[in-house]
Amino acid sequence: MQPSSALPTVAVIGGYGGTGRAIAGALLQHSELAVRIVGRDLGRAECCASELAAAHGARVEARRGDATDAAGLAEALREVSVVVMATTALRAPSALPQAAVAAGTDVVDIRPDGAALTEASAHGGAVAERGIRYLAQAGFSPGLPSLLVRLAASRHPGIDAIRLGIVLGMAGATNPEQVSSFLELLPEMRCRVYDGAWREGSYSRDVETFDFPLGIGVRRCYPYLIEELEALPEELGVKKLGIYGAGTSWFTDMLVTPLAVGLHKLRPGLLRRPLSRMYLWGARHTGARASGAALLMDARRAGAPLLSAAVWSADAYGVTAAPVVAAVRQLLAPSSRLPAGLSAMGRVLDPEATLDDLRSQGISVTVEGAEP
Ligand SMILES: NC(=O)c1ccc[n+]([C@@H]2O[C@H](COP(=O)([O-])OP(=O)(O)OC[C@H]3O[C@@H](n4cnc5c(N)ncnc54)[C@H](OP(=O)(O)O)[C@@H]3O)[C@@H](O)[C@H]2O)c1
Repeated sequence: MQPSSALPTVAVIGGYGGTGRAIAGALLQHSELAVRIVGRDLGRAECCASELAAAHGARVEARRGDATDAAGLAEALREVSVVVMATTALRAPSALPQAAVAAGTDVVDIRPDGAALTEASAHGGAVAERGIRYLAQAGFSPGLPSLLVRLAASRHPGIDAIRLGIVLGMAGATNPEQVSSFLELLPEMRCRVYDGAWREGSYSRDVETFDFPLGIGVRRCYPYLIEELEALPEELGVKKLGIYGAGTSWFTDMLVTPLAVGLHKLRPGLLRRPLSRMYLWGARHTGARASGAALLMDARRAGAPLLSAAVWSADAYGVTAAPVVAAVRQLLAPSSRLPAGLSAMGRVLDPEATLDDLRSQGISVTVEGAEP
């Protein structure tokens, strides 16, 4: 089970979790890289490595490593080219930046919460000085929304209004824990739309509808803001920008989600487990009962549609893993121009090359519109 030392190694922290395992599997399936599964439970890491080795060949090994222990993590990252952070250590500060600096390893961090960005910013100087490319906000969402906005702006520089719609289908989720970390993030999502400036959005007036694939159809979607988008309107000269999200069921969107947000105000985490079970029940028994995730983008100039794009898969883990594989490939490419220091993934990856990479991994991607 030892990876060949001639191959660059990618470590996946949280590599036996749902998303981490999908990332490790996708790296083995779609690259020649070696993979190191890192987690707090060495037995589980070894078991996962054995299963992946049986499926993909002996390019995978396991190490113990706790994301909150800088010295131990740096040891687990020795001789690693890129580390992918796929843990649920939400809010508890991780030691990832310090360990990456100590080990001299590039980083792809898929944690969506602002705390992950804050901890990386605190070490931004040391990261840049060491020449480390530190891609935060990586994955599907965050990850692809800013990439699609950059795609639109690069194809049609005069675009002035961009909408993004995202849907998450959890009908196939087997474990309420998969929903739990999502519900934990919901109450902290800021409701914002850009209209010349970012302003407080309204869950009644700023609702947008999107027609999603995966058998989901038309859904009413609600505004929120992710950090990777914040600076883009001014940088690109876009006058209107918004990202709008929904689940696949009226039960989850109209009942469980508002309840989770309301209870969080009384006490963070209150009734999260029963709410996670309710969310899963709703996803399985009401609405479209779909699994997977889809991201849509449409861009206009002076009201006229110019470009639309869609990225989707019935495999929600797979659609998160694919952009991570693309990011790792762009980091390790001999011609890579990704800058040293902290960046949001979608702000620096090559949009066209990334979408081609997603297609090559079996993710559905369409881009339609006027010729640039
Ligand atoms: N950007 C995106 O598109 C996107 C999409 C989906 C998910 N995510 C994010 O991906 C992360 C993983 O989600 P998931 O659904 O895969 O969760 P999961 O199935 O619960 O897996 C989490 C993994 O993290 C490990 N872990 C937790 N604390 C750790 C620590 N201190 N040190 C080392 N390992 C630790 C867990 O193992 P042990 O507890 O045994 O250590 C487990 O293997 C979350 O942050 C989630 O929000 C991002």
